[in-house]
Amino acid sequence: ESCSLGIDIGGTKIAAGLVSRSGEVFEQKNYPTPQESNQSILEVLREIISSFPGIALEMDKNLIGIGVGSAGQVNFKDGQILSGTTNIKDWNNIHITKYLNQFTDLPIWLDNDANTFAVAEYVHGSARGTNDMVCLTLGTGVGGGIISNGDLIRGDWGGAAELGHITVDMNGPACNCGSNGCMEVYASGTGIANRMKEHLAHLAKQELPEEIKFYLENPERLTSKEVFSWYEAGLPVATETINLAIQALSYGIVSIIHTFNPSVIVLGGGLVRERTWLATEIKKNIASKGIRSLVEPVDIRISELGYHAGLIGAASQVWFQQ
Ligand code: BGC
Ligand code: NA
Ligand code: ZN
Repeated sequence: ESCSLGIDIGGTKIAAGLVSRSGEVFEQKNYPTPQESNQSILEVLREIISSFPGIALEMDKNLIGIGVGSAGQVNFKDGQILSGTTNIKDWNNIHITKYLNQFTDLPIWLDNDANTFAVAEYVHGSARGTNDMVCLTLGTGVGGGIISNGDLIRGDWGGAAELGHITVDMNGPACNCGSNGCMEVYASGTGIANRMKEHLAHLAKQELPEEIKFYLENPERLTSKEVFSWYEAGLPVATETINLAIQALSYGIVSIIHTFNPSVIVLGGGLVRERTWLATEIKKNIASKGIRSLVEPVDIRISELGYHAGLIGAASQVWFQQ
């Protein structure tokens, strides 16, 4: 059976794996995204593409190509990361394809991580059978991918669909991208943690439960995971931050719906997994926003491909690149 090697480069982890044409994952490994330098990230990629062909051979799979999905602005035509994402250090002007070509003869594809995610959900996942869908990935950053009339929207050189950087509040906090009040500063993992830290700093310390006080003293340890668990446990301290994320997503999604008239919005990424209530909350929220005829019919769905969606998306380029 044929398979491709998918590599999904995110702000926190790099996932690599062997994936079939139908989206089945045969073998998968995670590597933490090195934070020191872009060189160390390239080292990880090199290790991946030198170890997986052997694994494929052992599993009796025929490895036919490599698909890389990366956070950041990607020129898919020449296999280059341009202005890198704000979430990976010095991830600028990296000729991924050229670099990897030194170590492999296999054909290589490169695209933005959320674009490949959208294609995977469109081909194999929650948006099967629709022609107009938009995908938002909530992880370290907020990514976007748009399929309009069956085609991935790319823009001039491939940088389109940076939906996480839609401004939902002109007076909002600064974003890494240079703008203000982007969806990402409210609804990404880092954004939620940052908003929560700001909120905690305004509260009277004595009144906080011990568990939460710990993060006041060790703010670098706080992630969106804690914030969600407080919220899900009904602790009022997290209500404002999570509501802000829901509001930001809702306004952003309404603008997206006004622009593209999609039938389905797919939410994916680590933050969304097993949080189907997020889709419900957003659906409820947008019911009173925007133009009725456009907003009402839209289905808000959670990624069906789940944990492996990014990986499957990256790998799928070998067969389904648009
Ligand atoms: C980046 C996007 C990326 C997204 C998810 C954002 O911060 O600008 O390029 O797709 O994070 O990784
Ligand atoms: Na994108
Ligand atoms: Zn931004």
